[in-house]
This record gives sequence, structure tokens and C-alpha cells, in this order.
Amino acid sequence: VKLHYGFWVIVLFGFFVICVGACQRNDMWDQPKIKTLGESEFFDKRQAALQPVPGTVARGYLMEDDFLYKGIENNEIAKRFPFPITRAVLERGRDRYNIFCSPCHGRTGNGLGMIVQRGYKQPASFHEERLRKAPPGYFFDVFVSGFEAAKANYEKSSQTKRPKEDVVHPVLSKQLKAEDRWAIIAYIRALQLSQNVPVTELSPEERKKLEKGTEQEVTGGTH
Ligand code: HEC
Repeated sequence: VKLHYGFWVIVLFGFFVICVGACQRNDMWDQPKIKTLGESEFFDKRQAALQPVPGTVARGYLMEDDFLYKGIENNEIAKRFPFPITRAVLERGRDRYNIFCSPCHGRTGNGLGMIVQRGYKQPASFHEERLRKAPPGYFFDVFVSGFEAAKANYEKSSQTKRPKEDVVHPVLSKQLKAEDRWAIIAYIRALQLSQNVPVTELSPEERKKLEKGTEQEVTGGTH
């Protein structure tokens, strides 16, 4: 019985030590500090959260490069891409295009996406002569100025109740960073090429395949 009693004394003592130890944690709770939107005795306007110094640029948001971020090179609409177009870039472009553009512009760029088939304004086909000849910077400009203009139109339209045909283009600049926009434009170039290669640019094997293909169509066709 005596041993039993001693055991409980030890357990209770241990418990007490743990409790006292735990209470010491209040030191960290009570340390002097400022909470984000709390009040401050020290700073102006008694605000704990300070405004950044004017002109502050967040890391990674300098965007000094007009070519990359605005599609403008030597004060002109860029006639080339700001970085080499690799297979990986094209695949990224295809991925983004199919998500963000194909619902209206169609998977092949013909302007007959599902939203258009359901009544949205039909955009021009990317295979038009005018758009095949347009420099990459023009497409980029639609993202930057076109989208912005569309946004302004949209805001006005909600006040003056303009017809919905006036809302020209969805604002997608938030979803697509500059590199992705260029990747999409590169993919549009690939789409354009896919529908418009002069026969003279094909290799002899490719030409053979093409001739075979048309033969089959002629002999096997029922139209
Ligand atoms: C909600 C439908 C919709 C989506 C999504 C959309 N567009 Fe458009 N786009 C249009 C319409 C409609 C026009 C034609 C606007 C006009 O003629 O007033 C257009 C026009 C354009 C033009 C100008 C073509 C010309 O005739 O000069 C470009 C370039 C373009 N879109 C690129 C894109 C790209 C790239 C994407 C994807 C990132 C995209 N658009 C997503 C509907 C859409």
C-alpha cells in the first residue's frame, strides 16, 4: 500500500511540472508585436499596416521589357517572337489555346467555337489572309489593348445597358501571363500553317502522300 501511495505522489508531481512548464508559453503570446491590421501607437495614422513606398515594385513584377510584356519592339508592333519557339512552347500554347480561346475561335481557329455556335459574335477565321500576314505583335496587342478596350466597353455597357454585341472580347489578360500569350500566338501560327502550306514547300515523300490521298478520294468518293 505504501508503494502505491508513493507512485501517485510521483505522478501528481510530474503532472504539476508539466502544467507549470505549459504556463510559461504565455511569454510568447504576450511578446510586443504588431498585428497586420491592428492599431499602432508608433506609426502615422495609427495604422500598423504601412503602405509600400511609392514606386515599389513587387519581386518579379518589374515588366520593363516592352517586347516581352507589350509586344512592342523599337516602338513598333513586334514582327517576331521574344524567345525561341520550341516544341515545349508550342505544346504549352496548344494547351492554353484549347482552354481559353477554342470555345469561341474553334479548335482549328476557324472562328466557329461552341459559344459562337450558340449565338456569340463570330470572330474572323485565323486563316484569313489578313490574319495570316499579321505580325505576332498584332495578336499580342489584342491581348493588351484589345482586351483593355473591351473591358472599358463592358464597364460602360453595365451602366448604359448597351446591347451585348458591343462587348467585343473577354478580358483574359489576368489568366494568361506574357509567356503564355506568346506561346498561344506561336500555336496560332502553327494552326495557320496547318491549313495553308504551298505544295512547293512539301518534301517529295509528302507530295507523294498528298497525291495518293487525292487519288483515293477521287476513286473512293461518293460525292
Ligand atoms: C468569348 C469568346 C472569345 C474568346 C474566349 C476569345 N475570343 Fe478572340 N475574339 C472573339 C470575338 C467575338 C472576336 C471578334 C471581335 C470583333 O470583331 O469585334 C475576337 C477577335 C480576336 C482577335 C482579332 C482578330 C481580327 O479579326 O483581327 C484575336 C487576335 C483574338 N480574338 C485572339 C484570341 C485569343 C488568342 C484568345 C484566347 C486567349 C481569344 N481570342 C479568346 C471572341 C473570343
